[in-house]
Amino acid sequence: MSNKISIFLSPPHMSGKELEYIKLAFESNYIAPVGEFIEKFEQSVCDFTKAKYACALVNGTSAIHLALRILGIGEGDKVLASTFTFIGSVTPILYQNAEPIFIDSDESWNIDPNLVEDAAKKEKPKALIFTHLYGQMAKIEELKQLADKYSFYLIEDAAEALGATYKNRQAGTFGDFGIYSFNGNKILTTSSGGVLVSHDKEWIEKAKFLSTQAKETFLWYEHREVGYNYRMSNILAAIGVAQMEVIEERVRRKREIFNTYKKKLSDIADFMPEIEKSRGNRWLTTLTFKDKEPLSVLKYLKKYGIESRPLWKPMHLQPVFKNAKAYANGRSEELFKKGLCLPSGTQIEDKQIEFIINKVKEC
Ligand SMILES: Cc1ncc(COP(=O)(O)O)c(C=O)c1O
Repeated sequence: MSNKISIFLSPPHMSGKELEYIKLAFESNYIAPVGEFIEKFEQSVCDFTKAKYACALVNGTSAIHLALRILGIGEGDKVLASTFTFIGSVTPILYQNAEPIFIDSDESWNIDPNLVEDAAKKEKPKALIFTHLYGQMAKIEELKQLADKYSFYLIEDAAEALGATYKNRQAGTFGDFGIYSFNGNKILTTSSGGVLVSHDKEWIEKAKFLSTQAKETFLWYEHREVGYNYRMSNILAAIGVAQMEVIEERVRRKREIFNTYKKKLSDIADFMPEIEKSRGNRWLTTLTFKDKEPLSVLKYLKKYGIESRPLWKPMHLQPVFKNAKAYANGRSEELFKKGLCLPSGTQIEDKQIEFIINKVKEC
């Protein structure tokens, strides 16, 4: 038996229109960086999410970095952040020389609003970056109330959650800023890419300015502040336009995949919950085993060419953040020890899911 992976965790799934749109970009010779697909892509994200303004960028991490920079967060400022997340959510706090303070999860697996309140009282943070983990909504109403009560900015990391909703409103549109990732493994992809959204026109104009090296509108190259080379290229935006056309279909299939696993494996595992009145996009099917050891399951699946992955290792347990403060309750550590992500690509066949389920059971 070979160890070669044949069923990936969450591979790209093209809609079929991508090459057609890339060809249009080539024909106009707007290869990079500017071109009409960038605006079209931003508009399609706004149309779908109902965010007012959007800025297309090279990835989700740069979107979080720009949000912090535009909110004026810098040295001496404290930023609360989900500990149970991917590192790209929080390293931008360090890029800005601010201090990350990590907050643990509650029974929803997402950030615990009670711990946020404890930290807000003591730390006087300037902002909170929280993740809608694996595509499921965090407790957004409680978090918004806390942001108002303790006067901090809210940055919604919806990198994994495009298409998730709470009371029919899209993830990423509740906070001062929202961000989406279009990395290769996300529900939609531009190979690599990100979008920053906000209700504030000036902030998004500033993001466009800073992401193009802060070039002033002079005939020559004039720069009065430090910017970045963060703007998305026209070619990747062309892929993004084609991808946005199929978002609802992708969410439907992700949820179907999740429901199939859940139905057949709930005697041996618990699955990530969804908060009331929300619809997760079920980007990845994630579970914790009642008895099995997740790394043994991972290795066993690998023998059959099936890719699986442990849940995120919490940020407050990462060596790189060993000196950071954390409001921890053991929840994310426990999830990390017991959990696994199963293949959730939207092109997976039902018989492949069946095969995976059988292999998990027999391990
Ligand atoms: C929760 C979360 N935040 C941020 C990011 C960063 O996005 P990107 O990889 O596009 O920089 C990712 C994923 O990659 C993510 O999963």
